[in-house]
Amino acid sequence: PSLDRRCTLFFERVEILAPRSLYPPISSRGMLASPLSRVVSALRPLATLSSVTRHDRILRVKWDDGQTGDFPLVWMRDSSPDPQTYSLSPAMSARNLHMSTFDVEVEPLSYSISPSDNQLHVEWPGSVTSKFDSEWLLLRSPSSAAAAARRHKWYLFPEETWGKEEIEKRLKRYNYSDVISDDKSLHDFLESVCLDGIAVLTNGPKGEKGAVEKIAERIGFMQRTHFGNVFEVCTKPDASNMAYAVPSTLPFHTDFPSLSDPPQLQMLHMFIKAKEGGNSLFVDGFHVAEQLRVERPDVFSLLSSRECEFIEEGHDVHEGPAGETMTFPYNMAARHTTIKTDSSGRVVRVQFGNAMRSWFYDCEPEKIQELYRALKVFTDYVYQDRNLLKITLQEGDTVLWANTRLLHTRDGYVEDDNRRRTLTGCYFQWDIVKSRVRQLSRKLALPSAQPSAVGN
Ligand code: OGA
Ligand code: ZN
Repeated sequence: PSLDRRCTLFFERVEILAPRSLYPPISSRGMLASPLSRVVSALRPLATLSSVTRHDRILRVKWDDGQTGDFPLVWMRDSSPDPQTYSLSPAMSARNLHMSTFDVEVEPLSYSISPSDNQLHVEWPGSVTSKFDSEWLLLRSPSSAAAAARRHKWYLFPEETWGKEEIEKRLKRYNYSDVISDDKSLHDFLESVCLDGIAVLTNGPKGEKGAVEKIAERIGFMQRTHFGNVFEVCTKPDASNMAYAVPSTLPFHTDFPSLSDPPQLQMLHMFIKAKEGGNSLFVDGFHVAEQLRVERPDVFSLLSSRECEFIEEGHDVHEGPAGETMTFPYNMAARHTTIKTDSSGRVVRVQFGNAMRSWFYDCEPEKIQELYRALKVFTDYVYQDRNLLKITLQEGDTVLWANTRLLHTRDGYVEDDNRRRTLTGCYFQWDIVKSRVRQLSRKLALPSAQPSAVGN
């Protein structure tokens, strides 16, 4: 059956959007009271607004406890939490202003502190009044380093990278049934995956398929690939992947370097364990990259600037959208640097798979040798004992990890002919996983929750 259909049933019901005129009028605080304001109020005593002064195109706000905030006029008009500026519905809130008609030199008609409700009131042309709560301002102040730092955390990145010693101490394990039935456990599990790049679910159903689908329904949507929604890892005669060919160990790899936008997370559930071996191994590729940056800057520089090409040609047989068996032929090709950095030099993606690496190097022949040397050094680092996490998944256990951060492999294994080692798996995108963490932290009013576009 289609997972997509089941997923919709799982999510909290969202009311169908009714015409805006049907909504009750929005009070001066708007429909803005949210769990977050309760969290923030509980965290510290409410500061009282004491003054507002204008400095060129900035309103400077002061609080009685000595805090100050600088709020650009254009930003205040644009972010105004009033019902005209933001349309609110049970399904979503979004800005009503159009940049094509928005006056970025907008001038307020008046501004003042309203002591009775501890708000800053600003009147704008067009009969718009913005009423900014003290708390609303403190949480969003563009001049507050604390507000910016809090906001950066909302992206659940950058992670703290790990070597063997760190991850052996801090690898998080959660109970499968807690994560299935309890939102806080689900939140904590997914947050661990965001930060550490890996977490484990234990005590899942044994001898019964469907755990992957159940966990995926809790998270949101799986990412379908040319291996379908849910794939099975076991030795198969018509192997469409190196992992399916022989019961031997695999080279450390990330899945799908052959895709230009590969799945960012991978989940594997141990359905039938090998008689011997078949343990799971992981290495934090971001950590290895940072080690190379310091210890082998020449290698870091080559691997973050020169691309390898990866090709994947073949066919996979899996369940189609209507449950039918389908054969999907493919010919994937993509080029990546092994280490991808952003414009500030931060490592944002690591990808490597020796099995799919192709013959094509987009450079002069003389430069190919040094790239091989760099790949060899990278691989040596990946296999260093100080970097390795080895875990044994028991039947019913599941591991979820960041596929474009961690490299993974397995031990070789021995299996009984009538009990073939079998894992079921699927992929996810960060956006879906991180969205679930944020949505749950709001719903549960956790201290990590963050302000929305409008409400506190
Ligand atoms: C894979 C893989 C791990 C395992 O299928 O890509 O890495 O434990 N499998 O078999
Ligand atoms: Zn793999």
